[in-house]
Amino acid sequence: MDTSSYKPGLEGVIAGISAVSMVDAEKNELLYRGYDIHDLVEHCTMDEVAYLLLYGELPDEATLEAFNQRIRMDREVPPALYDLFRALPNTAHPMDRLKAAVALLATFLPEDETNLRKAERLYAKLPTLVCASWRISQGQEPVVPDPNLDHSASFFHLLTGTPRTDYLAHVFNVTQILYAEHGFNASTFAARVTVSTLSDLYSGVVSAIGTLKGPLHGGANEAAMEMLQEIGSPENAQEWVRDALVQKKKIMGFGHREYKHGDERAKIVKGYAKELAERTGNALWWEISEIVEAEMLAAKKLHPNLDFPVASVYYLMELPIPVYTPIFVLSRITGWSAHIIEQLENNRIIRPGHLYNGLEKRSLAPR
Ligand code: ACO
Repeated sequence: MDTSSYKPGLEGVIAGISAVSMVDAEKNELLYRGYDIHDLVEHCTMDEVAYLLLYGELPDEATLEAFNQRIRMDREVPPALYDLFRALPNTAHPMDRLKAAVALLATFLPEDETNLRKAERLYAKLPTLVCASWRISQGQEPVVPDPNLDHSASFFHLLTGTPRTDYLAHVFNVTQILYAEHGFNASTFAARVTVSTLSDLYSGVVSAIGTLKGPLHGGANEAAMEMLQEIGSPENAQEWVRDALVQKKKIMGFGHREYKHGDERAKIVKGYAKELAERTGNALWWEISEIVEAEMLAAKKLHPNLDFPVASVYYLMELPIPVYTPIFVLSRITGWSAHIIEQLENNRIIRPGHLYNGLEKRSLAPR
């Protein structure tokens, strides 16, 4: 068998052409529709970035106003969704509850709308689903969405009953922007594969949610926080990492298929992790993280990816660990949708080949 053309994990394989984002691992640059993420987190809200990813340009004032109007009036979900959350086991992982919810929600939404409109609907309704799912699993009533709030303020309102527009809401906004889009990552690729069969946008998103859940992808933010908790103290950190590496364990929140010299998104969020440690007076996770990071660089030349600093930032925001990955979905929905739309604009079914290593042809005796 000639395996010379086989690339495990499709590493280095060019699987498409896209104008949504540019990942330049050599220059450590990430651009959304041509804009540098550093500029976007400094000057934009998640709602503006959502518009940018979906429509290709940043909105002017009137366009943003109209977009916000459409999103904010569309946050409610059919009551059957709340019934679903009550019927599902409280112990089911929030990503599994979300996957079921999006599949059910899709059956209530008009089929004949444009994909852009469908994407807007999901961007509007996903926070309601994620927060209601969590609250119901905790024995609480869902919160009715408030149309006066932007994406970040509304998220805190839907989760806790109280909106936030303070420093924490700003940090949340930054993480949402950084989670919104990242080229041909596994979940985006899954979405593109699904719609390349001419299946619908909602089915593409359900595939993407299932793919994001894994700890090698979006699930790493939860796994990273659980790891920090298991390490427990700065004194324990170095030895813990060394032991884990001897046991060939993956250290969650480290490494990346594209970035080999560090992830710019992680560097941005790391600044907030430090500031939050100072502001809250709780430097425990910061101190452990610094030791883990130094040890990983020394032992494996591996840098943290976005999920590593996000984990302790969300923890200091007092967000429940099991909703970290669903939170990722709340903004990545815009990147997924942009890719789904792009795929369908110039579609060919995605269907790679494979090498066969099974049994040679054999005869079947009459039975
Ligand atoms: N901990 C320990 N070793 C690691 C790690 C890690 N986190 N990441 C990579 N390595 C090692 C591998 O064991 C391998 O070593 P070897 O050559 O001695 O066998 C080498 O680095 C190359 O790693 P691969 O797994 O081949 O890298 P790949 O590109 O296939 O995987 C991935 C990338 C999945 C991100 C990997 O680095 C990983 O599992 N990281 C931990 C999970 C994680 O943080 N995922 C989040 C990704 S970012 C995101 O989704 C937002």
